[in-house]
Formats: sequence, structure tokens, C-alpha cells
Amino acid sequence: MKKIAVFTSGGDSPGMNACVRAVVRTCMAQNVDVVGIMQGYKGMIEGGDNFMPLSSRSVGNIIQRGGTILKSSRSKAFMTPEGRKIAYDNLSAEGIEGIICIGGNGTFTGAEKFYNEFGIPSIGAPGTIDNDLYGTDLTIGFDTAINTAVEAIDKIRDTADSHGRVFFVEVMGRDTGFIALAATIAGGAESVLLPEVKGDHTKLIEFFRGRQQSKKSFSLVVVAEGNFEGGAIAISSMLNTEIPGFESRVVILGHIQRGGSPSAFDRVLASKLGYGAVNALLAGEKNKMVGLINNKIELTPYIDAITIKKELNPDLLALVDILNN
Ligand code: F6P
Repeated sequence: MKKIAVFTSGGDSPGMNACVRAVVRTCMAQNVDVVGIMQGYKGMIEGGDNFMPLSSRSVGNIIQRGGTILKSSRSKAFMTPEGRKIAYDNLSAEGIEGIICIGGNGTFTGAEKFYNEFGIPSIGAPGTIDNDLYGTDLTIGFDTAINTAVEAIDKIRDTADSHGRVFFVEVMGRDTGFIALAATIAGGAESVLLPEVKGDHTKLIEFFRGRQQSKKSFSLVVVAEGNFEGGAIAISSMLNTEIPGFESRVVILGHIQRGGSPSAFDRVLASKLGYGAVNALLAGEKNKMVGLINNKIELTPYIDAITIKKELNPDLLALVDILNN
């Protein structure tokens, strides 16, 4: 391959820039031209200025920056055959022979479809704060996101302590609880409500009914946004109804978790995976996601990365109950 493209797509995550940098510099080291596509699949369809030749210098001074210099989008047009045909025509006109896509589920679903229709091979790097992709122990951005959540929880803890209050803190993660579970343990929260564990709200009602005996003066409960019984607002109002006189506050951390300078861990992970993705593509691999499993770079077919459910670590789940006493 003489020319490839790189883009970021879906929800941005801290470390995407470090990954773009690694992709570009690995290409430079192998004498391969690289084009950055702005705005993900949207830019691939719109063409024009969205196609930007990149050099080592274009990716200088970005390793520490959150967000993505290539911008991102969730493209509806790319979900249509007509949209993908236009994208293909634009890539062909530029002489692009392969793609590195940095994103999550939706990104890889699109890339697989694109290969099946037009034969453009791609390798994906897992860029999402959710850590919900099978085939990698950790995704780029997850570490930074949980550190952001824990920093916020530490602050909420101060005011919860001062006023002896109960706080429900809602974290992101879409329909998975990886962020919530890690933030609970690192933030020292007493309880967590997760999409993967049904019925935990009943345990919570019992816990707060008996709270007087526990001699705890304040409480922090982490709620995953995709929690089965609802987010933090729903849980807090359910407890208000169930327990007369119950009072609580709700904090929704939201998109704060997506921003900020990537942690050192995410920068290293992103660099390894960007390098690994280019090498895999140049070696003739396609339709696979590069990931880190037990500290080794491994490839997993897109279809597995997208469809196999990554499980929460049961040891961590058990630990929450031991540590909250
Ligand atoms: O996938 C990353 C993520 O931040 C999820 O945790 C969240 O559910 C979703 O994206 C929010 O998407 P948007 O930024 O489009 O509102």
C-alpha cells in the first residue's frame, strides 16, 4: 500500500489524537502516504477539504490534547448504500487503498459493510470511553474518563460529608457498566447500579431503610446511565417514594467524562494501538480491530469485537460489596 486514510468517528475519547499521531508517524516510517479524513464518515462522503494530507509535523503537539483534531460525527448518510458509494468514489479519486478507523461499535460496523461492498480494507483502533469492545482489555479514553469521574466523585464526597447527604452520581457507558464499576471502586462509593446486574435497586432500598444502624453519615451511589431501572434521577425519585422522608441529591457527570487531556496510560495505549493498526493493515490484515490483551497487541475480527459481549470483571463486582461495609 502506498496511500492510506485515517479518521476518528463516533463519540470522541481522550487519546484519539495520540492514536492519530502514532498512525501518521508509523506510516511516515514506512514511506506510506496518509490522508486524514475530517469528521469521520460524514467527511468521507462530503469530500473536498475534508481530505487532508498529513505529515509528521501535522500531528506535532497533539499528544496531550483531548478531543480529536480530525473531528468526529455520527453519520446517518453512511448507513445508506448511496452514501457509502459516494464515500468510495471520493476515496478512489484520492488513490486511498486502505483505512485506519478510530472509534467504537458503529465505526467498525460501517467499516465492515464498506469492505464487503467496495473491497477497501480497514483496521480499527478502539477509541471510546465506554470500554465496551470485546478484543481489548481497555479502550482508548477509558482510563482518562474514569479518572475524570473519580476526581468529580472526590469533590462530591466533600460536600456529601459536610451535609451528611446521599448523592447519586450518574456516569456514562451507554448500555455497559465499565465506567461505573471502576469509578465506584476508585471513588470509594458505597453502591453501584449497573445495566449488567438486574434488581440491585431493591438491595439499595433495604440498605437505605437500614441506614441509621450503619452509622454512616453520608453516602455516594454510582449509577450507570444505562442502568436497567433508570438513571440517577429515576433511582433517586424511586427511593423518595419508597422511603418516607428520604432526601438525596443527583449529579449527572455527562460529557465532562469525554473531554480533557488524556492520561499517560491512554497516551501509551493509543500509541501502541495506532502503531499496531498500521502494521496490521500493511501486512494485509483487514476487517479487524487491534487491541491490547494481557499487554500484547492482538487482532480481533470486527464482527467479534462488535457482537461478543464483554463481561464485567466478577472479582470487581464482588469487591464492591466487600469494600462498602
Ligand atoms: O460512546 C460514548 C458515549 O459517551 C456514551 O457513554 C454515551 O452514552 C454516548 O456516547 C453519548 O453520545 P452523544 O455524545 O452522541 O450524546
